[in-house]
Amino acid sequence: MFKDVFGTNPTVSVSAPGRVNLLGEHTDYNGGFVLPTPLPYQTYIEAAEAEGIEAYAENFREHKSRKVGEAKCGDWLDYIAGCVWVLHRQGHTVPGIRAYVHSQVPMTGGLSSSAALEVATLRALRELYRLPLDDVQIALLAQQAEVEYVGVRCGIMDQMASSVGRLGYALYLDTQNLTTRLTPLPQGYRVAVVDSAVPRRLAESGYNTRRGECEQACALLGIASLRELSSADLPRINALPEPLNRRARHVVTENQRVLDGVEALEQGSIQHFGQLMVDSHHSLRDDYEVSIPELDRLVEAELRHGAVGARLTGAGFGGSTVALVEKSEYESFKKGVLQDYPQARFL
Ligand code: GLA
Repeated sequence: MFKDVFGTNPTVSVSAPGRVNLLGEHTDYNGGFVLPTPLPYQTYIEAAEAEGIEAYAENFREHKSRKVGEAKCGDWLDYIAGCVWVLHRQGHTVPGIRAYVHSQVPMTGGLSSSAALEVATLRALRELYRLPLDDVQIALLAQQAEVEYVGVRCGIMDQMASSVGRLGYALYLDTQNLTTRLTPLPQGYRVAVVDSAVPRRLAESGYNTRRGECEQACALLGIASLRELSSADLPRINALPEPLNRRARHVVTENQRVLDGVEALEQGSIQHFGQLMVDSHHSLRDDYEVSIPELDRLVEAELRHGAVGARLTGAGFGGSTVALVEKSEYESFKKGVLQDYPQARFL
């Protein structure tokens, strides 16, 4: 509790969730479509006004502080300091924050614990200093904090999912213009998030390599963003040199899968939605090459044990899978998956 650490009561108490992505992977930095949903796990912050940045992280039992404007240190406080830093840069008067942080979002599975921490921090700062910011602006500021202060070149999906998503709804997001639409998740099904327990190996360098390959594909095609392409352009895409052809093909087909997926959800075609998840995994495995054998094995086990769809979720190279399972089948699904893949961690 805030009071135990700081000796006074907090002024505000906020939270923000992690996310799991249902469809639309590696499309957000290509101006494409994504379909995440918030997790029922949040990062909680109790906070008060302060001069400078001071925070206690319950998960690490660590107390840290930093001056506003001081450089990053490569630790968890970077996310909080980065939020104060972006607000300063935008001309907001934010002298600092004193925060007590507690997160329920697992930190290793690729479920956006960083976005949850950034969005929660910005929500706390918005309340503390009565900043005129809407939820989309909060997401954009959170992304800027991560890219420009923390130094991770992420897209906008995670921060938007955390800031404007709604529990129980899929958030369709067009990352080019940030328009969104909420579609209820299907009744009678459970979104199963299963961590492969393989830490994301080389995720950052692999992620940046893929971004570079998408930029090269655009340069060769004479376009500004892969968003400009559709399935009708596949002959041009297939004529690109290896592996740029497959990288671009993944992005274009994945965008189409998001559009088809929203339609399937709205029409109650859950089997079709599940098939799109499976197609997405195959495209991520074969064309985008961000899967690893363990994720493939886990997805196969999930499908074998009753999931209507399953795929890796997030950046890949390790981390978690997402599966859609009938609620009545969930217990036997879990048991079967654990038999075939004993390291699996069910959220
Ligand atoms: C990470 C990034 C997101 C997105 C996904 C891949 O989660 O933070 O912006 O690019 O990878 O879809």
